[in-house]
Amino acid sequence: MIPAPVLPDGWTLVALDSVGSTNDEAARLAEAGAAEGTVVWAREQTGGRGRRGRHWASPVGNLYSSTILRPDSPAPRATELGFVAALAVADIVPAGRETRVKWPNDVMVDGGKIAGILLESSIGQGGLVEHVVAGIGINVAFAPQLPEMRYPGAALGGSVEAALQGLTQALARRLAEWRRHGFETVRAAWLAKAGPLGADVDVRLGEELVRGRFAGLDGEGALLLDTTAGRRKIVSGELLGRAA
Ligand code: BTN
Repeated sequence: MIPAPVLPDGWTLVALDSVGSTNDEAARLAEAGAAEGTVVWAREQTGGRGRRGRHWASPVGNLYSSTILRPDSPAPRATELGFVAALAVADIVPAGRETRVKWPNDVMVDGGKIAGILLESSIGQGGLVEHVVAGIGINVAFAPQLPEMRYPGAALGGSVEAALQGLTQALARRLAEWRRHGFETVRAAWLAKAGPLGADVDVRLGEELVRGRFAGLDGEGALLLDTTAGRRKIVSGELLGRAA
């Protein structure tokens, strides 16, 4: 029998067989006052959501979880949590597999996308964040291949329970680090796992495709890109990668 996941001290698990989207369920609980560290986990999602309005295939076998965070910070700082979450996912990949983070929040293992992260925030009066739902899907048993996926998939292996336990423990550690040392430490850790500086990349900004060389991450999580027209700072877009 597979052991039940052990969550970090003070965290609470809401385990469901099936739900539309764990992000929606976590947002509902957050609105009702649920504390930071409440984790909604479902065996399957019938309406899993990805970034940019995409569908996230969610059959039984992979991990679908949404964690309520209460960062108590202004809205721009909440975007830092996407990098915190990506590092937590990277932390649970077994040694020996090539693990890279890809801007803004993807984690690639042996060249394939292993996880997706969807952060959804509720902003209160004065621009302060009331809560953030950190939705994280990890391919555990298999890697769904969808026509709209730009990258091949990769899978973690092992059990969903082990993945959830590893993820929540890593997330708690990375969050504590972020609170104690700020984004600079997260940024440095993220850059150490990112593709090489200077690699040729393409970034899609709506209809526009911008080509350039990966020049790092600024202090607010924007992608820095050296283009023929000079350095660009990209706040929102999709990194497609050529060499990186
Ligand atoms: C992406 O487009 O890469 C983000 C995918 C995020 C998927 C996760 S699965 C758990 C949570 N619930 C959802 O509906 N989406 C996120």
